[in-house]
Amino acid sequence: MQNILNDIAETIQAQKQRGVVADYIPELAAIDPKQFGIAVALPTGEIYSAGCAQQLFSIQSISKVFSLTLALGKIGDAIWQNVGREPSGDPFNSIVQLEKEHGKPRNPFINAGAIAVVDAIMMGHEPKEILAEILQFVRYIANDSSIAIDEKVALSELATAHRNTSLAHFMASFGRIEHAIEKVLGVYYHQCSISMSCEQLAKAGLFLVSEGVNQSTGRRVVSAHRARRINSLMMMCGHYDGSGEFAYRVGLPGKSGVGGGILAIAPNNASIAVWSPGLDKLGNSMLGTIALEMLVQRTGWSVF
Ligand code: DON
Repeated sequence: MQNILNDIAETIQAQKQRGVVADYIPELAAIDPKQFGIAVALPTGEIYSAGCAQQLFSIQSISKVFSLTLALGKIGDAIWQNVGREPSGDPFNSIVQLEKEHGKPRNPFINAGAIAVVDAIMMGHEPKEILAEILQFVRYIANDSSIAIDEKVALSELATAHRNTSLAHFMASFGRIEHAIEKVLGVYYHQCSISMSCEQLAKAGLFLVSEGVNQSTGRRVVSAHRARRINSLMMMCGHYDGSGEFAYRVGLPGKSGVGGGILAIAPNNASIAVWSPGLDKLGNSMLGTIALEMLVQRTGWSVF
């Protein structure tokens, strides 16, 4: 495994075309696109890594997997009253389907869906309390209490929030948002601004590898049934309008973030995190996807 990861890191470092860093969040626009990290966590807890796998980065939309998991634990299937389970085929921040579909977002991973998930888990609580719960949950599943939120990134998103504010108001106009919009968005931005390294992120995904149990800690996070369903959603919706392409090239449930990270799950085999800040046209890590493609070719871990 270490040889495979070293080969991948070497190939990725040599790439000239590295994609473009997200510039609509000013704090992310300043990140050096030459960085690359990869970590593979095995169910036993062993971790293999290469490149800057301990460097912290903004997990952004990858956090949506964790907030959905929390929401399913708190309110179960009631979450599906306000969020769908279909791929959108549209960009992550698109508003077009919301009008035709009465303010119900297609899935929990597009921005509108993730905002609706945050609204559903607030249940009358203050943003600080909910954020503490989300952060606590991420620390618990990753078994790492040092994981924290990068306040600068959250404030940077807040300063450029027009699109997400529109999505939230649009859903509210259909009676689908219960809490004050600025509070819901405050939680959403802070959740997206959790900083993690590839190694921490790979560990956080371990419960999805082994039917809901992080075997390295013995902690059951969700039922086997629920873990399978979260993996299906990641496979179908985790890369927005690039989900089909990701399934075609990599063949694993995966969730991307505009910070350039991807969490991919090889059921029964490993949890994998890659990070390369340059994005493709659809907002998914360009070289991160290539790295996963290489890993799957070498390991045979595709689910197909
Ligand atoms: O709301 C946003 O635009 C960001 N906080 C998250 C978007 C994101 O990560 C999309 N993923 N590729």
